[in-house]
Parts: sequence; structure tokens; C-alpha cells
Amino acid sequence: MTKRAMITGITGQDGSYLAEFLLARGYEVHGVVRRASSFNTHRIDHLRRDPHDPANRLHLHYGDLSDGSRLACLVDDIRPDEVYNLAAQSHVRVSFDEPVHTADITATGTARLLEAVRRSCPEARFYQASSSELFGATPPPQDERTPFHPRSPYAAAKLFSYWMTRNHREGYGMFAVNGILFNHESPRRGETFVTRKITRAAAAIAAGRETHVYLGNLDAVRDWGYAAEYVEGMWRMLQADEPDDFVLATGVGVTIREFLDVAFGTVGLDWRDHVRFDPRYLRPTEVDALIGDATKAREVLGWKPSVDGRGLAKLMVEADLEAIEHAGRPWIDTVPLPSWNDPDTP
Ligand code: NAP
Ligand code: GDD
Repeated sequence: MTKRAMITGITGQDGSYLAEFLLARGYEVHGVVRRASSFNTHRIDHLRRDPHDPANRLHLHYGDLSDGSRLACLVDDIRPDEVYNLAAQSHVRVSFDEPVHTADITATGTARLLEAVRRSCPEARFYQASSSELFGATPPPQDERTPFHPRSPYAAAKLFSYWMTRNHREGYGMFAVNGILFNHESPRRGETFVTRKITRAAAAIAAGRETHVYLGNLDAVRDWGYAAEYVEGMWRMLQADEPDDFVLATGVGVTIREFLDVAFGTVGLDWRDHVRFDPRYLRPTEVDALIGDATKAREVLGWKPSVDGRGLAKLMVEADLEAIEHAGRPWIDTVPLPSWNDPDTP
């Protein structure tokens, strides 16, 4: 039997890698896409086929985590075996500007989706995209037993979703799990997160298109892994014998300065000549250090990452350089649009 997966946030970094991963394993994939005035499917366009082709296994549906009735209809129609809730207002700095919107999508949105699944197909396995931001002010190393101390509206919203997921597991016996993922990046990372901002700048400066980049706090430590490897961890959590919560991390802490060293070093530049400070990028409360211990995921799920923050800096700069060299535009634009491209479909 073909397994059916539903992914919210399929147009994001993780959603695109997860869709690729599941399609390669023979899944039928249903992605929820929010309506926008311009196309927002660029990360998954290379996976799309003619929707009229009976062999097509990627189906996109309009939907928004703010709209519980739509989510209920979608779950009822699709009847998924696995649900991956990746959609969120996912930017920590932005959550200070938009705390109420962040709560509506990143917290209440999860409750809407969990309730839709509980009502229509409680046997479906449910993955919640929880975050190392939950640990916040609690010093590293952090694992599944580390106390939470959220430091932003985003983290507070994710904390609500974490407990709603556990509550549906404990209260209703659902196979609902939290993946507590430490930062994970890739050439598809959104351009406003610090890693991609740095690697795009390094590539653009090396190509003579820019001269400098503005950044905020350079002292923070993050445990950066490779998104393509983390989506396999998500899937493994839903294949486990018992529902449980897992940390995914590399265990390697890297400061922003060290990431800058490798990124600019890859193109033979010294970042100190090109980085300027802008207090706009500071946060009212900062998360100083996140370094995860993923022993449980390794022992129970057999999941082990192979790329750390330094490896990522190099990999991402090389991808941004290639994008500039080949198209002069972001990497994703190098993928041609399918000829049947139909502007009426999401
Ligand atoms: P991302 O690139 O920002 O993607 C977020 C996705 O959510 C996008 O598809 C976005 O759609 C969608 N979305 C936003 N608001 C929505 C709404 N109101 N209704 C429906 N969809 C909406 O994030 P990511 O890096 O792939 O992360 C995936 C998930 O993991 C997020 O929940 C994030 O908070 C969590 N997480 C990420 C990391 C990390 O380091 N990447 C670590 C821990 C946890 P558009 O494309 O239209 O914007
Ligand atoms: N975005 C950004 N932009 N961050 C900067 C900048 C800048 O110009 N300058 C310094 N930083 C610092 C931030 O203050 C933070 O300490 C660190 O770089 C990382 O910031 P982000 O890349 O925005 O990621 P994040 O750690 O806040 O959040 C990401 O990881 C979480 C998991 O721990 C997001 O992907 C979240 O959705 C995710 O849950």
C-alpha cells in the first residue's frame, strides 16, 4: 500500500527536503500551501509533475494554519497516514515584532491541526516541528531531559505546541511526537537567517556585487546541522515502535564569528573587512548557546548526522557562488519551471 503523507510548510526549507525524501520512498505527498500574491513554491517546483498525470504523487492544496475549518476538511479528505506539521512563523527576531501573529500560527495553528487529526483520523502519526529554542536560557549541553526556558514569543509559541502534542499523545493515545531540532541549514535556507545571510554575502562580495553586510550579535553559539539529514530524522521518529520525543543535533557548537571565518575563508576573504554592526538585528532577549546531545536519537532511531556548522559554511558558500556564476540569481531559479506550469494551481 502506498503511504500517504500530509506536510504543512512544504514550501519551506525543511518541507522541500522532506517532500523529496518521501517521494523517493514511494509516498503520496500532500502539501499545504498558503495563498500568496506571488509564487511561493520555488523550493518544490523541481518536484512538481503535471497534476493531470495519474502517476503524479505530489499534490498541493491551499490552506493556512490560521484556518481550522480548512485544516479539518483537508485532513478529512486526504486521510493521511503521517502528518508533518512544519508550518510556522519561524523567525525568532520577527516574533518580537509580531507576537500575536506568531502565537496564532506557531502555537494555536498546531492545536487546530492536532484537533483536525484527532477528529478525522486519530490513527495517523503526527510529527510536530519543535525547536531547540525551547531550551533558551538553559545552558548546554541540552537533551530531552533539559528544562525549558523560552526566550522569545516564537519559543513560547513552540512550547505550547510541544505540550499540546504530548497532551494528544498522553490524553488520546495518538502517535504524536516532538522532534526537538537544533538549527539546521542548507542552500535552501531562508535568506534572513544568519547562516544564509552570511554565505550569500560572502559569495556576492567575492563576485564583486556587494562590499559589506550588516549583522547583530556575533557571540551566539549554535549547533548547526544539515537540513537534508534532519528530515530523515523526522521520518524515523514516525517509523518508531513507540511515540516519543527526540533531540536532533550534531553536538558541535560554533560561534557566528567561527562561521564567518569559514564562510569568508572559503572565498579567500577576511570577514572583518566586510561585516558591519546594526543594532536592528539584536533581540530583546538572546539565546546565547545551543549545543545538543542527540544520543537518544542515535540509539533508538539509528540517526546520525555527518555535517557540522563548519562543513555547512563551506557547502553553503559554494552553492551561493555557483548560483551567482550560473544564473546571477538564487540557486533555486536555476531549476526550470515545468512546461505545464498552471498558474491556477498552488
Ligand atoms: P521555513 O523555511 O521558514 O518554512 C516555514 C513554512 O511554514 C513555509 O512553508 C511557510 O510558507 C509556512 N507557513 C508560514 N506561515 C504559515 C501559515 N500561516 N499557514 C500555512 N503555512 C505557513 O522554516 P524551516 O526552516 O523549513 O522550518 C520548518 C519548521 O521547523 C518550522 O516550524 C520551524 O519553526 C521549525 N524549526 C526549524 C529549525 C531550523 O533550524 N530550520 C529548527 C527547529 C525547528 P511560505 O513559504 O509561504 O512562507
Ligand atoms: N537572523 C539573524 N540576522 N541573526 C543574527 C544576525 C542577523 O543579522 N546577526 C547575528 N545573529 C544571531 C542571532 O542573534 C542568533 O543568536 C543567531 O545569529 C542565529 O539567528 P537565526 O539564524 O535567526 O536563527 P535562530 O537560532 O534565532 O532560530 C533558528 O533556529 C531555531 C532552532 O534553534 C530558526 O530556524 C528557528 O525557527 C529555529 O527554531
